[in-house]
Amino acid sequence: MKDRILVTGGTGYIGSHTVVELQQAGYEVVIVDNLSNSSADVVDNIEAVSGIRPAFEKLDCLDFAGLDGVFAKYPGIKAIIHFAASKAVGESVQKPLLYYRNNIVSLINLLELMPKYHVQGIVFSSSCTVYGQPDKLPVTEEAPIKKAESPYGNTKQINEEIIRDTVASGAPISAILLRYFNPIGAHPSALLGELPNGVPQNLVPYIVQTAIGIREKLSIFGNDYHTPDGTCIRDYINVVDLAKAHVVAISRILEQKQKEKVEVFNIGTGHGLSVLQLVHAFEKATGVKLNYQMAPRRAGDIEQVWADPTLANQKLGWKAETSIEDTLLSAWKWQLRLREKGIQ
Ligand code: NAD
Ligand code: WQD
Repeated sequence: MKDRILVTGGTGYIGSHTVVELQQAGYEVVIVDNLSNSSADVVDNIEAVSGIRPAFEKLDCLDFAGLDGVFAKYPGIKAIIHFAASKAVGESVQKPLLYYRNNIVSLINLLELMPKYHVQGIVFSSSCTVYGQPDKLPVTEEAPIKKAESPYGNTKQINEEIIRDTVASGAPISAILLRYFNPIGAHPSALLGELPNGVPQNLVPYIVQTAIGIREKLSIFGNDYHTPDGTCIRDYINVVDLAKAHVVAISRILEQKQKEKVEVFNIGTGHGLSVLQLVHAFEKATGVKLNYQMAPRRAGDIEQVWADPTLANQKLGWKAETSIEDTLLSAWKWQLRLREKGIQ
């Protein structure tokens, strides 16, 4: 059995897909999750996909003593993937202190415990949000960090700085910061996927809920942007491809292949797609006609961003492989499975 990895937020959308990929790569996984945005039956679903039941501790990462107890209970944790966070941009504007406490203190707790338990490194879930509206596209890791558009985005920027400062202080740890673009889709088994709480804020969950009839129609926020078809452009990355990037990052840390003690990688496809292009790709992939209307711009939206993933391709040896059609089909199959199970 390979090394033991702690995955915080491991019953969440990206975390659950990553746990499966880690298990299939031979790692032993311990999940810590407070189930604030997921449910315990995701552990069953992970086992159904991988055939291996991960250890699961229902715990808030803000509980320092509780976290300490997890490291003591599962000796030999070699590395951490830290997904646990609150991630709703709009909610962060309404409840900034909840976001600052949850997203920053949970990271500080982990960083404080790592040296005590000889944890070699941490992979941190960052976001292309840190770039704001880049001056140059595609955006590279060298692009300047712009003033965050939301408290949520600010917590990602602050967390990156906290990690850098901690490593620079001489802490015996290393870090890889993965800046995700727009993760979408679901596991091809349709046993894992995104379960948004309430009305989805993100595009693809809203599309599949419209397609199945939960939502009456999709509003496309703005068609007067300076883009070819007037709608915003994003870099939509398949969630399983994204999960695989974490496995590569973990092995890079454990095999001590890092060139610097803190490395940053853009995890995106390198291709931008407009909202309208994505809607049409969904219709083509699924054969389902989507009911949509043009609507006013959404406050806080940036016009266009997509990754230059060259560094991840070359240094990590990782590349996004899944087509947008297959990805959207996986999201649709997941929505159909939820309907079958009477969940949505
Ligand atoms: P998610 O909400 O599905 O998963 C986060 C998980 O963390 C949930 O299961 C939640 O219950 C748990 N959690 C939250 N606070 C916790 C705490 N204090 N203690 C223990 N568990 C806690 O979100 P996701 O989409 O899987 O995102 C995972 C990470 O990736 C987050 O850090 C997010 O900011 C980041 N990210 C997400 C996206 C995206 O579009 N989904 C894009 C860029 C970055
Ligand atoms: C994509 C495009 C919308 C819904 C957010 C966070 C980011 C990261 C990923 C955490 C935009 C348009 C959407 C709808 C629409 N999360 N849209 N109608 O805003 O790029 O990124 O999620 O880290 O931090 O900001 O993703 O899916 O919300 O929107 O027209 O009903 O779809 O305007 O252009 P976004 P999104």
